[in-house]
Amino acid sequence: MPKVTYIEHDGKEHVVDAPVGQTVMEAAVKNAIPGIDADCGGACACATCHVYVDEAWAGKTGESSGMEQSMLDFANDVEETSRLSCQIKITEELDGLIVRMPKSQH
Ligand code: FES
Repeated sequence: MPKVTYIEHDGKEHVVDAPVGQTVMEAAVKNAIPGIDADCGGACACATCHVYVDEAWAGKTGESSGMEQSMLDFANDVEETSRLSCQIKITEELDGLIVRMPKSQH
């Protein structure tokens, strides 16, 4: 099963087994990873699942949709590699993915 590493703003790392077909957000919530609030439950309607995809993985997580881009406008401290983790589906190719959480989701 693919492994995803979540790194909290303070540097604390969590490595999680993330089943193919789940989203990066769902795998975090199911494993009680702090730093991803996911208030809307994955509907791309809250922007509280904001993560920074590690540079090395940025090209592999797919393109963000227009809707995701619009929601990211509501997130804080958006950067080049910012994504909404509910919009990244886990695939075998994402085994080893690293994402970092922002300081705050609100
Ligand atoms: S969980 Fe709400 S936008 Fe991702």
